[in-house]
Amino acid sequence: MPKTAEVLAGFPKTWILAYGAKVIVRPMVKEDRDGLVDFFKKVPEGDFRFLKDDVADARVIDQWVRDLDYDRVLPLVVEKDGHIIADASLHRRKEGWRRHLASVRVVVDPTHRHKGVASRLIDELTDIAVKEGIERLYTELPTDDRAAIDVFQKRGFKLVARFERNILDRAGKYHDLGVYHLDLAERR
Ligand SMILES: CC(C)(COP(=O)(O)OP(=O)(O)OC[C@H]1O[C@@H](n2cnc3c(N)ncnc32)[C@H](O)[C@@H]1OP(=O)(O)O)[C@@H](O)C(=O)NCCC(=O)NCCS
Repeated sequence: MPKTAEVLAGFPKTWILAYGAKVIVRPMVKEDRDGLVDFFKKVPEGDFRFLKDDVADARVIDQWVRDLDYDRVLPLVVEKDGHIIADASLHRRKEGWRRHLASVRVVVDPTHRHKGVASRLIDELTDIAVKEGIERLYTELPTDDRAAIDVFQKRGFKLVARFERNILDRAGKYHDLGVYHLDLAERR
């Protein structure tokens, strides 16, 4: 299995989005702290209910950059004109009975949505997971997060389980949690 450092040798990458914009895709670094705090300020309050971590709290971002360990969590950021416009991450465990699995999360700045950014990030993380020998990707989404469900389903993820009232959002509302799988065995 290649080491994460080898997998990351291909970064930073330049993407030209469908509408001609040039963006840079690269692993998150400690210096991204302020850019990330600014990025999450642009995410509408309504979207926070779809996110596992309370990213409105700068202390959460502090912890992310302090604990950066690409072997455990590989966060990619998309940068346009020096500003972060998207963040996606691949979470895996090198040991234990979940070592063949990895989970994926993604958030895109509202002004850059519907331009294929999330789809390309998921494809990028899928390629990395395949290179690392991961057998299955999964994502956990509130079953009312229509946008994310559409994106992940278009990438081939399938709903495998639903847990009622497994999410309690910041506003104190319950949501069902859907678990979506993408099997990678045939891509290795
Ligand atoms: C979900 C999210 C990441 C999608 O990002 P995006 O960059 O706009 O997604 P893409 O442009 O790659 O969309 C791909 C497909 O998903 C679907 N889609 C995207 N946004 C949608 C929406 N608001 N409603 C319905 N379908 C949507 C479309 O089918 C789209 O294909 P199309 O462009 O051919 O129409 C973004 O809306 C977001 O950041 N939401 C808040 C955070 C979140 O819910 N994250 C998921 C938790 S891990």
